[in-house]
Amino acid sequence: MGDHHSTLPQQEEQLATTEPKPELPSPATEQHEQHAPTTTDATPEGETEESDLIPNNDTDPIPGDSTARPQEDDNRDEVGDHDIDGHRDSSSSAGARSHFSVDLSIDTSDADTSDADSALGDIGHPSSSVSVTSSIYKFVEEYGRTYHAYKEGKYPLPNDIPEQERLDLQHSIAVRLFGGLAVAPLKNPKRVLDIGTGTGIWAIEFATEHPESEVIGTDLSPIQPDYVPPNCQFLIDDAEDEWLFSSPFDYVHSRFMVSAFSNFPRVFQSAYDNMAPGGVIEFQEYSARLQAVDDTLKGTAIELWSNRVLEAVSRAGKDGLCCHKFKQQMLDVGFVDVVEKRFALPGNAWARGAEEKMLGTMQLENMMEGIQGMSMNLFNKVLGMSREEVELFLMDVRKDMRNRHIHFYYVLYSVYGRKPL
Ligand SMILES: C[S@@+](CC[C@H](N)C(=O)[O-])C[C@H]1O[C@@H](n2cnc3c(N)ncnc32)[C@H](O)[C@@H]1O
Repeated sequence: MGDHHSTLPQQEEQLATTEPKPELPSPATEQHEQHAPTTTDATPEGETEESDLIPNNDTDPIPGDSTARPQEDDNRDEVGDHDIDGHRDSSSSAGARSHFSVDLSIDTSDADTSDADSALGDIGHPSSSVSVTSSIYKFVEEYGRTYHAYKEGKYPLPNDIPEQERLDLQHSIAVRLFGGLAVAPLKNPKRVLDIGTGTGIWAIEFATEHPESEVIGTDLSPIQPDYVPPNCQFLIDDAEDEWLFSSPFDYVHSRFMVSAFSNFPRVFQSAYDNMAPGGVIEFQEYSARLQAVDDTLKGTAIELWSNRVLEAVSRAGKDGLCCHKFKQQMLDVGFVDVVEKRFALPGNAWARGAEEKMLGTMQLENMMEGIQGMSMNLFNKVLGMSREEVELFLMDVRKDMRNRHIHFYYVLYSVYGRKPL
């Protein structure tokens, strides 16, 4: 497959084919909506809009001394309920939702004590292997991992098989949480672009669900499979470079690029310049600041990890809270009807409800797999921690992440808008 990828900037070269496998009304040109945990401790630093959080009247009382330091005994279960207007589906367009509220409450009734939920089922998607046939495939090896060769050093996470498998698991989590591939309402976009496509799983699934669309995925790493739908292709390209696409797009999508881009406004401008009038842009992203429904996150290794990530990405010229600014940045380049939606993802199976347990268990697995790759490069090279210090620290973080007495969650954003007609 490898040699099908092109490093020529935005030269739309077809690679291979077959098997594949997200509203708030606001003034005039702008819409705004919150989906946030309905608890008292949900305001990320620097995030003024969190004051709109909807109170969670259904939150169960936290058992006993909820303010006590979390116990390391993971054998007593506490879970919570995470409810998005009573429905979450797995269809491909979540745009039909007109209102959301997100509740996370601690389940005091579930006696299940295991970290992994047996209900999890098949959540992984094995990735294909990559044949190394040119310089872009001569991956950089470090920390027992491989990293992209094209624009070497630009992106800090690995690109090897374990990371590819994690990305595919993370995709499953995102589709489940967002209720589909897109949160934005779409009307059969003809030309679709997925920036930083990773394993290409989003692009492949979108192409499969929308045979009328032509889908292009771009990335620094040639880790996409050989066999993709005929209406899907991949390009090796740096999205922070100038875009030279031949025709405008009707839908530009990007997901989980927080540690990738140092200049999101530039990317938004490139997207705007390469979109057809009426075209839709959607960025789906993690906020790097973890939250909790109570004070059980305070003083934990998880909280320290989150703070270190924020510090490291900042020193590396990036912004762990970039998604908090997407809405204004999109408006600034000219997009209209910009909507910001937030979703709460439990960090493990502490939250009440089958769906919340499933999501929490999947996310725990995602982090158990991914935290080394997410942290090592940044903590070692940027923060100056030794490899051993990083590994030891991550052992503490993993232990706390498995602890159901720590009621933490991640906040994911979907921000979308359209280019005016
Ligand atoms: C966390 S992964 C997300 C992959 C995919 N969007 C998903 O949600 O599964 C980030 C991806 O962006 C790619 N990337 C990083 N910097 C990039 C850049 N400047 N241009 C294009 N892709 C980039 C990385 O190689 C990696 O595959």
